[in-house]
Amino acid sequence: MLRDVGSRDTEFIACIKFIRQKILEIAGVTNKKFSCIPMQGSGTFAVDASFQTVLPKEGARALVIENGAYGKRMVKICEAAGIACDVQSFREDRQVEPEVIDDALSGRTHYDLVAVVHSETSSGVINPVTEVGNIVKSRSPDSIFLVDAISSFGAVPLDLEASKIDVFISSANKCLQGVPGFAFVVARNELIDKCKGNSRTLSLDLYDQVKQLDKTSQFRFTPPTHSMLAFKQSLEEFEAEGGFAGRSKRYQENRAVLRQGMRELGFKELLDEKIAGYIISSYLYPKDPNFDFMDFYNRLNEKDLVIYPGKVLDIDCFRIGTIGDLHPEDMRILLKAIREVLADMNISVPVKN
Ligand SMILES: Cc1ncc(COP(=O)(O)O)c(C=O)c1O
Repeated sequence: MLRDVGSRDTEFIACIKFIRQKILEIAGVTNKKFSCIPMQGSGTFAVDASFQTVLPKEGARALVIENGAYGKRMVKICEAAGIACDVQSFREDRQVEPEVIDDALSGRTHYDLVAVVHSETSSGVINPVTEVGNIVKSRSPDSIFLVDAISSFGAVPLDLEASKIDVFISSANKCLQGVPGFAFVVARNELIDKCKGNSRTLSLDLYDQVKQLDKTSQFRFTPPTHSMLAFKQSLEEFEAEGGFAGRSKRYQENRAVLRQGMRELGFKELLDEKIAGYIISSYLYPKDPNFDFMDFYNRLNEKDLVIYPGKVLDIDCFRIGTIGDLHPEDMRILLKAIREVLADMNISVPVKN
């Protein structure tokens, strides 16, 4: 990625083609039915572009099913774009519930699009996307089913056909381990082909983006050349690790080591084991007067170990990610450091809850 290539270099054009094709392969679909549309920017840009592109400017209504910060972000995207939107909310420490969604779709309101997050990274919950997709299509066959799979694609199973997904979004810098700079949308060709002129913005238009890419294999506007070169390398590393199976296995091992070690230290998880994924784990603050999250965070940071604050409203917790170029040994290093930091903070182990 430290080389400069021109947006229209033959090498870069080959890189774009390789990436678009490889993502479809990882998604388990072919270009007969689906297109991979890379979009400059972060994951949110591609989610925004998806809503903007697949819904007409006038008269459309979306249903956003949410149980956390990234579901709520899709609601904000609709609000900002002027898309009428209803929201079906669930507790942040629970999965979304297919039966409730079934009820919501049985009413008189017609939804042009129903959206849900696969791995709700704000808590770590994995939502039952296949059940939701089947309910959407049985209740409302012409509704578009959109899935934010930003933090799960490449490492958590998601069968597009079985889940009746029309559009899903992910980004370069999550389970595929690229660097930030672009995101991508995988969308059904028959849907995208109908979306000319829908977008309310010039840049976040997936129709124009894909048509230009299909025709010339070039981006409409300056592409993130360095991020894409890095991503090509990431995809080769993904293959070398055994593809989906290898990546998913390592992340599950990371999570198992973390889980066992945190349990020994006395930490309690926010989520029930059955609904927790292996992307990120949320831990409740221990009930110890000496525990101060920022102090805990900074002390770990000084040891080059970066964790995340909690993102669940009303519940004090912090999060530990297990994706990226992290291995079980890194989890052991982290656990040892947590033990040392707790001792330095005069917090006895096992911590109190
Ligand atoms: C599930 C999910 N959706 C959306 C986003 C937003 O992505 P970005 O920060 O790249 O815009 C994230 C980021 O972590 C995420 O995990």
